[in-house]
Amino acid sequence: MKESEGAAPQAWTDMAASGTGSAAWPGQLPGGVSAIVATAIVVADMVGVGVFTSLGFQVKDIPSGFSILLLWVVGGLVALCGASNVTGFVSPIHDVAELAHRHGALVSIDAAQLAPHHRIDIRPASDPGHLDFVSFSGHKMYAPYGAGVLVAPRDFFAGAPEVMGGGAISIVTWDDTVWADLPDREEAGSPNVIGAVALGVAIDTLLELGFEEMLRHEVELGATLLARLSRIPGVGVLGGVESRLGGQARLGLASFVVDGLHHGLVAAALSHEWGIAVRNGCFCANPYVFHLLHMDKHAVDAVEGEVTAGHRKALPGAVRASLAPYNTAGEVDRIAEVLLDALRFSG
Ligand SMILES: Cc1ncc(COP(=O)(O)O)c(C=O)c1O
Repeated sequence: MKESEGAAPQAWTDMAASGTGSAAWPGQLPGGVSAIVATAIVVADMVGVGVFTSLGFQVKDIPSGFSILLLWVVGGLVALCGASNVTGFVSPIHDVAELAHRHGALVSIDAAQLAPHHRIDIRPASDPGHLDFVSFSGHKMYAPYGAGVLVAPRDFFAGAPEVMGGGAISIVTWDDTVWADLPDREEAGSPNVIGAVALGVAIDTLLELGFEEMLRHEVELGATLLARLSRIPGVGVLGGVESRLGGQARLGLASFVVDGLHHGLVAAALSHEWGIAVRNGCFCANPYVFHLLHMDKHAVDAVEGEVTAGHRKALPGAVRASLAPYNTAGEVDRIAEVLLDALRFSG
């Protein structure tokens, strides 16, 4: 739907209405309220509400005094996405880290979507905005064979390793197990050597290409993609079509829904008919996607029933086009043309 036509934005684009979106940026909240943003994530995690990625957390539902007290008493881990793989929103990770540390919590950044596009500054532990944990995946950085990275404080790995097995020990006797030094202690079993080498090469290649240059290109293409999609009647973009949020450029991707067409069908048509590789579904972020689709608990429960009964098609979702340094403006135009065609055929 074209927002410039004066029509009400599609439900799934209207983040602010549910207390999320730019209103949730810590820097923009008055005084004490900002602390709630960070604590809300921790509490939501603890009570099993689910942690919504990038700006999707619902501050208004959390009783502030309770959450701050809880965090102060038990400490905690504030976990958030560095960037959302659904909307491309980039989180203010150092601001959140500062808030978390002020309340005695550690911060863990899922940087799977961020790492291929932004340089990440972990910062020294003496810096209030430092990052305690950072994780990312090789497959999001164009590397094959599934290696991943976890950056964590050394003392976090004290004691026995999480997974025990070959290569994790220095010596085992009848009485004793002496664990190997890091990183071997945490890498039990046959190591994924090819994965690690491939990831190293991928990181070197990204550094050679230059993060600033790549990001500039991707963000420009991403803004064009959002603009093109906004002009197609019947297409709605998750998180809206603004290319910037809270002063930060959105990453070059768009997750969209097409009126009247199942996301699986749209993705299959783009791939098989036009050779455009996209992903569809909930992108490993089910609660966030349900939230962006404005599904209430009743709707989600109903879908859960269907899916657990084997009706996978009942799972709602979107189609995601992700842009990389090798993509061109012509390819972005092509996606838009193809979607227009698909909508014409769908009647
Ligand atoms: C933000 C984010 N987190 C987590 C993942 C999942 O990573 P993995 O497939 O390595 O578990 C992805 C992507 O696939 C992602 O984009």
